[in-house]
Amino acid sequence: MHFNYLPSFVKRRGRITKKQIENIEELNKFSVSDFNDIKNISNDFKSSTIEIGFGDGENIISIAKENPETLFVGSEVYLSGIGSLIGKIKENNLSNIRIHNGDVRELLETIKAPIFESMLIICPDPWQKAKHHKRRLINLDFLALARSTLKKGGNLYIATDWDDYADGISEAVRVAEGYISSEDYPFNNFPVTRFQARAIREGRDIHKFNLKKI
Ligand SMILES: C[S@@+](CC[C@H](N)C(=O)[O-])C[C@H]1O[C@@H](n2cnc3c(N)ncnc32)[C@H](O)[C@@H]1O
Repeated sequence: MHFNYLPSFVKRRGRITKKQIENIEELNKFSVSDFNDIKNISNDFKSSTIEIGFGDGENIISIAKENPETLFVGSEVYLSGIGSLIGKIKENNLSNIRIHNGDVRELLETIKAPIFESMLIICPDPWQKAKHHKRRLINLDFLALARSTLKKGGNLYIATDWDDYADGISEAVRVAEGYISSEDYPFNNFPVTRFQARAIREGRDIHKFNLKKI
C-alpha cells in the first residue's frame, strides 16, 4: 500500500559544499531503499536501529561509534546532511551505518516484518503554525506505522524542543494502541544535536518520550 504524504520536512536552500557533493557521489555504497536491503545487512548485526531526520548526523555518528554491533539506518531528505554524514562515516571508519535518502514513511511502508529494536526521532520539524500542524511527522498514523516496524519490546524515542508539539505528541501517544511509556532508554548517551543546542540557547525545554512496543 502506498500513501501520498504531505511533506513533513522544510525545503532548505542552504549551501551545499564541494566536499558534501563529493561525498554524496558515494551514497550508493551506503544506501538502503527498502525492507530487503535492510534485512540483508541486518543479518550481520546483533540489532538494528533507525534514526529519522538525522540532520548533520551528530547523534547517529556518536551512538554508532559506541555500539559497533548495532546497525544504524539513518533516514534524511536533506542532501547536505547526507553529504556530512558520509564524510563522518569515512573519517571514523564506521561500517555500521546505512542511509535512506527520502521520506522515511515510504521506507517504513516497505517493512514487511518487525525489524528494528529502536527508532529515534530528535527534533522533528515543528511546523508551528496551526494551519501546518497536519504536516507534523508524529501523529496517530505515524505511530501505527512505526509500531509495525518495531520488534516487541522495541523502543520509540522522540525528543522535541517545542512545547505545543510535545502536547500533540502526548495526545497521540495517549490514544495510540500498543505502546507503554518506559524508563528503559535504548542508548545511554545521546549527544546534544544542533537543533537541541539551539533550543537550549533560546531557553526552550527538550521534551522526551520513550515508548516501548507491547
Ligand atoms: C529540525 S531537523 C532536526 C535534525 C537533527 N535531528 C537535530 O536534532 O539537529 C529535522 C530533520 O528531519 C528531516 N525530516 C523531516 N521529515 C522527514 C521525513 N519524512 N523523512 C526523513 N527525514 C525527515 C528534515 O529534513 C530535517 O533534517
